[in-house]
Amino acid sequence: MNDTEYYKLVRPYEDAMNMLLIRIRVLGHSLYNKEEEQLYHTIQNRIKGKDSIENKLLKKELEPSVKNAKDYLRDIAGIRVICLFLDDIYTLVELLTRQSELVFIKEKDYIKSPKKNGYRSYHLIIGVPVYCADTMEIFPVEVQFRTMEMDLWASMEHRILYKGTTKMESEKVKRELMHYSERLCEVEQYFEMFR
Ligand code: GTP
Ligand code: MG
Repeated sequence: MNDTEYYKLVRPYEDAMNMLLIRIRVLGHSLYNKEEEQLYHTIQNRIKGKDSIENKLLKKELEPSVKNAKDYLRDIAGIRVICLFLDDIYTLVELLTRQSELVFIKEKDYIKSPKKNGYRSYHLIIGVPVYCADTMEIFPVEVQFRTMEMDLWASMEHRILYKGTTKMESEKVKRELMHYSERLCEVEQYFEMFR
């Protein structure tokens, strides 16, 4: 796909993402009055880059076309919500999935069932309707909910494994990472007491 095709592809995903961002922010404000009791700590968002879209399709052994991107990728638009407390994640998910117009597509709860490497996070794919002149289309947005401990671990793991260590080292690093995932989970539980 060329640059023009890429920008045309991602525009409605960006609109869907922005609409969902506002909904999450409103939820964060409306539930509590006190600043320190916000439902979330920070929100990040991004649109998948052209190279990243193409590489992901190639990895799936698909032609890197606009049609395949629309048909096979559900993380072109991504939001990451970072919370102080675990409960806030499930509260936000509950409130968000109950909203009219938003379509629940899929969830992956890596908090209840962490991945083998120690990755923890709650993933939700939400369909957001985007209205044009006389058409409406649902666009998926991937929302990742994490506590700060989960985010610290995932960001470090991503950073470390991208650097590429030798085979022997990497086995050791993987064991260490698993260990720290458990430790951070304990830290998270400890902080729950201060809620
Ligand atoms: P992707 O092809 O990576 O999108 O995986 P998937 O389609 O099976 O979806 P999944 O919900 O498992 O993961 C989606 C996203 O979660 C990834 O793009 C990462 O941002 C994050 N993620 C999943 N697993 C890991 C992990 O082991 N480590 C880190 N750092 N991030 C992860
Ligand atoms: Mg992804």
